[in-house]
Amino acid sequence: MAESEMANGFDASEMMPLTIWRKTEIARDIFLFELGPREPGDLPGFTAGSHLLVQAPNGIARRYSLCNAPSDRGRYLIAVKRDPAGRGGSLSMAQDTAVGDVLLVSPPLNYFPLSDDAASHVLIAGGIGITPMRAMLHELIARRADFRLIYCTRSPGATAFRQELSDPALAGRIRVHHDHGDPKHSLAVGPLLADRPEGAHVYCCGPRPLMQAVRDAANHWPSATVHFEDFGTSAVPGEGADRPFLVRLAKSGTILDVPVGVSILDALRREGIAVPSSCESGTCGSCRTRLLDGTADHRDFVLDDDEQEGEIMICVSRARSGMLTLDL
Ligand code: FES
Repeated sequence: MAESEMANGFDASEMMPLTIWRKTEIARDIFLFELGPREPGDLPGFTAGSHLLVQAPNGIARRYSLCNAPSDRGRYLIAVKRDPAGRGGSLSMAQDTAVGDVLLVSPPLNYFPLSDDAASHVLIAGGIGITPMRAMLHELIARRADFRLIYCTRSPGATAFRQELSDPALAGRIRVHHDHGDPKHSLAVGPLLADRPEGAHVYCCGPRPLMQAVRDAANHWPSATVHFEDFGTSAVPGEGADRPFLVRLAKSGTILDVPVGVSILDALRREGIAVPSSCESGTCGSCRTRLLDGTADHRDFVLDDDEQEGEIMICVSRARSGMLTLDL
């Protein structure tokens, strides 16, 4: 997602000024922020998996998952990873904020909800992707639901919420996996998802390779039971080799340039063409568009293999051919 935008389903006029009540480094380079209203009172409610758009002191806005229990109405908890290689929003949140500062924050929005019908839930988190899972954990415990959480981190020191996740009351339902930075020790996702218990749903938030591994391993699961959340913080394979391409709009015959670093969705916006969108990270399904001609470079977590033949998620996917023709 573009950090500087107030788009993505948010209305800039709805941003609320919230005070940083607490800021704590809970793991290496991961800061937990407790945000609250300036006057005592409840904040807009949320469901597990929701996120906020937060404007960092340097003006860049980024999405952060809420990680407190949805029943907790007087405050919001978010965790932010300091990422010197990122686009600046999280770095500013980590470095330029202090307790007592006021930040502009959107109301909660949820593109990653828990299923109400699932018989059981498998949560797979990688790194800072634990944040929506922590809210889900609270919710699933409150529901007395059947769940498992697998949380992949580099090392114990890089593990957020480490103490509470090792609570004996959760024994057998939570597994923390450390790869120590060695891809050879990455979580073996295949065996986890090889068998699908009747009614099970799987949820994944983390780096793109983990989400890709989950997507591949859950290929035989019904697509409606496999859920992803991605805040655009994970590198897209081959991104450095992105090439410009053309998009032809079949209904008007218009041909657009899509330069490197610009999505098809943004290229359409530049021309004043409005297309539905929400997450802008290839996970919510809002920008699904019929692909009439050309070969797409699919980078989303929505379309299954069959759907990729004739559809494209224009917020993240690009082209392998020189031109794509869209049913727009
Ligand atoms: S806007 Fe959500 S998948 Fe494209």
